[in-house]
Amino acid sequence: MAVEWGDGVLLTGPLRSVMLPPIADRFVAGESIDGAVARVRALDDAGVASIVNLLGEHYDDPEDARADTEEYLRLLERLPATEPPATISVKPSQLGLDIGEDAFRDNLARIVEVAAAADTFVWLDMEDHEATDATIRAYEALAREYDGGVGVCLQANLRRTPDDVTRLADTGGKIRLVKGAYDEPAAIAYRDGMAVEEAYRHLLHRLFTDATVGIAVATHDEALIEYALELGDQYDRESEFQMLMGVREDRQRELAATETVYQYVPYGSAWASYFYRRIRERRENLRFALRAVVDAYSPV
Ligand code: FDA
Repeated sequence: MAVEWGDGVLLTGPLRSVMLPPIADRFVAGESIDGAVARVRALDDAGVASIVNLLGEHYDDPEDARADTEEYLRLLERLPATEPPATISVKPSQLGLDIGEDAFRDNLARIVEVAAAADTFVWLDMEDHEATDATIRAYEALAREYDGGVGVCLQANLRRTPDDVTRLADTGGKIRLVKGAYDEPAAIAYRDGMAVEEAYRHLLHRLFTDATVGIAVATHDEALIEYALELGDQYDRESEFQMLMGVREDRQRELAATETVYQYVPYGSAWASYFYRRIRERRENLRFALRAVVDAYSPV
């Protein structure tokens, strides 16, 4: 079973394993490590770095979590040398968090140990609010043990996040700030887009002015990108920008001329739910994707 970032999009059975069609390859780098590696190389040629993610989440069978852990270890061996080096991003529930915190921490420790030996940075994606505490605990422990070789995603829509920023402000790793992709209850989250943007601005300002942890600005929202650029100039503080494969790619390349830009590159057989999520976010992506299919199958 696969669940996309938030919103309870569930997919099971054959959709997980059919071949990646042209309709999805705008957002997903392929079904295998080969596709991900090719994408990392192509991005490097364009001056954009990579965050590679194996699609998969919410496993309740320890074998599934172990299989994805092994796949990440194979991926780490195959990542090509780029500048800046490619990174990876894992989902806690993909490594067994739904089975138990120990299972998750054990699988994560194996990945981070191998990644550290290869000088590869490891990101922890943030899932729904039930995973927040365990994810932050894992990040804190690993940031100490690996001297900043890991990062964690924090979600601006959660009302708790200012406290989490205080808690993590001086950890040695990095914080990736996102708006938040999960449909959370109003008691714990801002649900209005303007309120989330406002919260994002406050958190970004605090990260630039009141924290030593590394900053990753993960958004496609131009107003927030401009604000982060202003803060960087004003406080003479480095940060990196992160965007998704298939979203505002022209802007990614343009920004990469002056800033460090990473693209989040998902791959794997569980692509269908991820693709569906991107389509739900913006209807014009469907038109774009359908045009790609027509082009692919039209006789020249
Ligand atoms: P918003 O959705 O408001 O979009 C701003 C503008 O960007 C739009 O007006 C449009 O121009 C453009 N745009 C956005 N999406 C588009 C699309 N699909 N197609 C075309 N244009 C689009 N969330 C989470 O909960 N946990 C996590 O671990 C992560 N990790 C993560 C990593 C990275 C690198 C990114 C970029 C994002 C995440 N997210 C995430 C997702 C995040 O929470 C959020 O849902 C999306 O980034 C969309 O929010 P924006 O900030 O881009 O703004």
